[in-house]
Amino acid sequence: MIVFKNVSKTFPDGTEAIKDMNLHIKEGQLVALIGPSGCGKTTTMKMINRLISITSGTIEIDGKDTAGVKEVELRRNIGYVIQRIGLFPHMTIEENVGLIPKLKGKKKAEYQDRVNELLNLVGLDPDTYKKRYPLELSGGQQQRVGVVRALADEPPIILMDEPFSALDPISREQLQDELKQLQMKIKKTIVFVTHDMDEALKIADEIVLLKDGVIQQIASPEQLLREPANDFVRSFIGEERIQTYLNDHSRQSIHAYIDKAAKPHHNEYTIDASTSIKETVRYLIANKTDSAVVIENDKVTGSVHKDRLLAVLAGIDEEEALK
Ligand SMILES: Nc1ncnc2c1ncn2[C@@H]1O[C@H](COP(=O)(O)OP(=O)(O)OP(=O)(O)O)[C@@H](O)[C@H]1O
Ligand SMILES: [Mg+2]
Repeated sequence: MIVFKNVSKTFPDGTEAIKDMNLHIKEGQLVALIGPSGCGKTTTMKMINRLISITSGTIEIDGKDTAGVKEVELRRNIGYVIQRIGLFPHMTIEENVGLIPKLKGKKKAEYQDRVNELLNLVGLDPDTYKKRYPLELSGGQQQRVGVVRALADEPPIILMDEPFSALDPISREQLQDELKQLQMKIKKTIVFVTHDMDEALKIADEIVLLKDGVIQQIASPEQLLREPANDFVRSFIGEERIQTYLNDHSRQSIHAYIDKAAKPHHNEYTIDASTSIKETVRYLIANKTDSAVVIENDKVTGSVHKDRLLAVLAGIDEEEALK
């Protein structure tokens, strides 16, 4: 868990980039920071791994004030994909993505398979690309390597600053899907900066909307669309998008489809009642299971079943179908 307590940042020239920020980022969540250019997204992110110092307030990770942790140690446990790629030009792709595991004293054999798997996942054939240098790759390919590098070591926290911005729309959608599935499987805490509202709505568990260094709203994608906190939020999302999403069943939460009668048997898969139908189906498929236990306010309230949700998505009346 990452906790911001009354965090402010004023740069030496007097620019107040962040004003009294309070934020709880839960473990295993994907949180999207979004807002107009210059609103403080990158600054917020860089304060987490102390690439930027805090002027006042504290940031705690798992209850520990980050100010007291050595920078090197802090950064080794926090993966980071920067806005402008940031691969080391004199190292091959293989060396770039293996750098952190190597620094941690791991042997090549221990991380090689993982690196190959991830390269394949982002559509880069390891045999073709591993021995190349960053400049021998296109901008979009380099960006994919940046993503692989952040994931290769499986740090508990990953910071991603507009990681997909240089990609074409198709690769971008693919990587969004892959990141989301990966995150649901490996349960990493991911802080993801984007200025693309559709991207945030698609992949985030929670969205933090910033304007001029001040948080305007913290909400799940569904909450944000249903109850924009103010006119700025509403106009930043856009009226058309609000209508489109609200008319889309898959964005509804599973709340109305919880089976409360069936006593949930032991099940290692749990999902929060506020999760959308789409995300829940994605989670069930990713985990190769037909049902999950539903948690609401830290209590088990029932279970959800894949068939029921698929029926809702397909517009099928399940009772009718079972006759
Ligand atoms: N080193 C610096 N010195 C002074 N002001 C800075 C410095 N770095 C950033 N700022 C200012 O702080 C504010 C927030 O910048 P930040 O980079 O966090 O914005 P951002 O939300 O990431 O924007 P973008 O979407 O364009 O990447 C901006 O007004 C920026 O000009
Ligand atoms: Mg930025």
